Amino acid sequence: NQPVKIAPSLLSADFSCLADEIGKVEKAGADMLHLDIMDGHFVPNLTFGPPVISAIRKVTKLPFDVHLMITNPEDLIDPFIKAGADLITVHVETAPHLNRLVQNIKEYGIRAGVSLNPSTPLVMIEELLADVDMILLMSVNPGFGGQQFIPGVIDKIARLKKMISKLNVDVDIEVDGGINPNTARQAIAAGANILVAGSAVYGSPDAKEAIRLLRGT
Ligand code: DX5
Ligand code: ZN
Repeated sequence: NQPVKIAPSLLSADFSCLADEIGKVEKAGADMLHLDIMDGHFVPNLTFGPPVISAIRKVTKLPFDVHLMITNPEDLIDPFIKAGADLITVHVETAPHLNRLVQNIKEYGIRAGVSLNPSTPLVMIEELLADVDMILLMSVNPGFGGQQFIPGVIDKIARLKKMISKLNVDVDIEVDGGINPNTARQAIAAGANILVAGSAVYGSPDAKEAIRLLRGT
């Protein structure tokens, strides 16, 4: 089994001092930084866009895991890549031409992920598994940090893991929402290898210890 990667979500950081907040998790051993992009349409909340990403690109070496929760993501791939994204994840619910969108992202030489809301079935990405680098399973309804993990997602992770093993493809399974040491352990056991954590890391006084507890090592 590959080592588990932890991606702290900047959504739960103090937005008045982003550089410090990023430095804190970088020093604490984070593997990448999860950036939640919300447009007030696909999800009922608004966050930040490419200008903020280019600004923080200068203060850290952490790879940027950009989670697009926006309608018409195809219109904004170029600015997010220019801003410094290392991986861009789009929601299946926002993209009727997913195959084209994933190819477009990969043509820039970065990694492409596809995300499913809790109620969206795995069959929606079945035809795409040979072409994506990562599947992001939402374990809360997207829009806000600090929500409760939806327990049924554990079985969904296990079924996705089976699909991936059967096809013998190299696809990461990222889980996002309500991750704490307890849900992390269950998600890892089911087959997840990247965990997003907002409140569990930024809500803790000791980010290093929080990350260690999530890895379960
Ligand atoms: C939710 C976002 C998550 C969020 C997770 O829409 O996609 O990345 O920041 O926050 P926690 O870990 O607090 O549930
Ligand atoms: Zn996210």
